[in-house]
Amino acid sequence: MKYSKFIPSISIFFISLFPIILSQQPYIRQAITLCESTDNSTSALGYTCNGLNRSCESYLTFRSTPPFNSVPTISTLLSINRTQLSRLNSVTENAIFETSQTVLVPVTCSCSGQYYQVNTSYIIRQNDTYFSIANNTFQGLSTCQALQGQNSQLTQNLNPGARITVPLRCACPTRNQSDGGVNYLLSYLVTQNQFVSSISLLFGVDTGRTLEANGLSEQDFNIYPFTTLLVPLQDRPVSTQVTAPQPPPPPSTTPPESVPPPSGGGSSRTWIYAVVGVVLVSIVVGGVVFFIKKKKKSSETDVTTISSKRFESVEKPLKKEEDEDSNEFLDSLSSIAQSLKVYTFKELKSATEDFSERFLIKGSVYR
Ligand SMILES: *[C@@H]1O[C@H](CO)[C@@H](O)[C@H](O)[C@H]1NC(C)=O
Ligand SMILES: *[C@@H]1O[C@H](CO)[C@@H](O)[C@H](O)[C@H]1NC(C)=O
Ligand SMILES: *[C@@H]1O[C@H](CO)[C@@H](O)[C@H](O)[C@H]1NC(C)=O
Ligand SMILES: *[C@@H]1O[C@H](CO)[C@@H](O)[C@H](O)[C@H]1NC(C)=O
Ligand SMILES: *[C@@H]1O[C@H](CO)[C@@H](O)[C@H](O)[C@H]1NC(C)=O
Ligand SMILES: *[C@@H]1O[C@H](CO)[C@@H](O)[C@H](O)[C@H]1NC(C)=O
Ligand SMILES: *[C@@H]1O[C@H](CO)[C@@H](O)[C@H](O)[C@H]1NC(C)=O
Repeated sequence: MKYSKFIPSISIFFISLFPIILSQQPYIRQAITLCESTDNSTSALGYTCNGLNRSCESYLTFRSTPPFNSVPTISTLLSINRTQLSRLNSVTENAIFETSQTVLVPVTCSCSGQYYQVNTSYIIRQNDTYFSIANNTFQGLSTCQALQGQNSQLTQNLNPGARITVPLRCACPTRNQSDGGVNYLLSYLVTQNQFVSSISLLFGVDTGRTLEANGLSEQDFNIYPFTTLLVPLQDRPVSTQVTAPQPPPPPSTTPPESVPPPSGGGSSRTWIYAVVGVVLVSIVVGGVVFFIKKKKKSSETDVTTISSKRFESVEKPLKKEEDEDSNEFLDSLSSIAQSLKVYTFKELKSATEDFSERFLIKGSVYR
């Protein structure tokens, strides 16, 4: 009992070291809409200046959206050198992008006070709010909290025509990341139906590293549209990584590890067991989902909305959860679903060698 006094002070010591040594940057989650909040533990004000360097080469993404759908308009909006923007995206200096295309943006990220940022400026239009500027115009590359923090003299009335500073979210690698071979952090704008694993795959980055870079984990991996996810890169990003059609995810039942099994003969047995398992689980899950849906049909919350919200990045971050129990259950479903997702018909087809007789078990189930 003598030592019990020490325990609190020791834990305080470790807790206070924790953010400095281990944590990279916290993911913003749904804090994007909490414009009145000044909670600085969520990265809503910006990514903390905790990197090895106070300034670094960094990257953002932006989705081409009229009127910001060309090299000139995007480089003006984000105050980016037009030549560099066009080169990075392998297009001409006047190129127009397809709507919704992901555009890579090269920036120099630097510390301003305690946060990393890239500055651009913006002229207020009628009916603008800090939220609409951050979310609708800058797509989540900035936040209402950060805008408010840096333009405090204008907090009450946003006068059309006034120019404000817009801090864009960027970060530099921490010592831990740099030691691990990370040279750049890319602020990736999450859109609908994306997972940490699918985004990591685009850039050939280990999902675990991306989760870690954002203070997320295998148990806590939900991401939302109009937020930035930091992708830790070893090499500079190239345009084909964001414009090429997304390759099918590797067949793995634990997405964060994402180690594709070797295609050699030795592993094919386990592989086949995995396929059978997944087919069975999907039948069970399908049944359960159907059951719940039926059961909850009369209640005002549509279960499919919640479940898809759990599986994927979601559109309406503010939506309140209503049924704790079913959400917990859906959480576990969502992890199963994530593993289910990875088997495409094509993969099944090749795993069973085009559904050959050899793999048939009792008529309709392939192994
Ligand atoms: C958060 O705010 C508190 C008090 O306002 C301050 O002491 C702390 O340094 C801030 N933390 C970060 C990461 O900015
Ligand atoms: C833009 O970048 C190009 C190539 O790096 C450089 O030659 C040019 O001077 C830059 N322009 C401006 C306005 O900084
Ligand atoms: C960005 O803007 C902030 C606030 O206006 C300023 O303090 C900071 O020096 C600027 N950073 C750069 C790199 O210009
Ligand atoms: C601003 O809002 C008012 C009322 O909601 C609307 O009548 C007007 O058209 C809006 N202006 C612009 C430029 O969107
Ligand atoms: C954020 O902006 C997008 C694009 O304009 C819009 O669809 C979405 O509803 C906005 N989010 C919120 C919470 O208003
Ligand atoms: C970075 O920190 C993690 C713990 O969060 C640790 O497991 C890992 O080994 C560290 N990497 C390096 C290169 O120091
Ligand atoms: C940090 O700065 C040093 C010296 O300028 C540079 O060599 C190094 O690549 C930088 N590291 C990162 C991760 O930006």
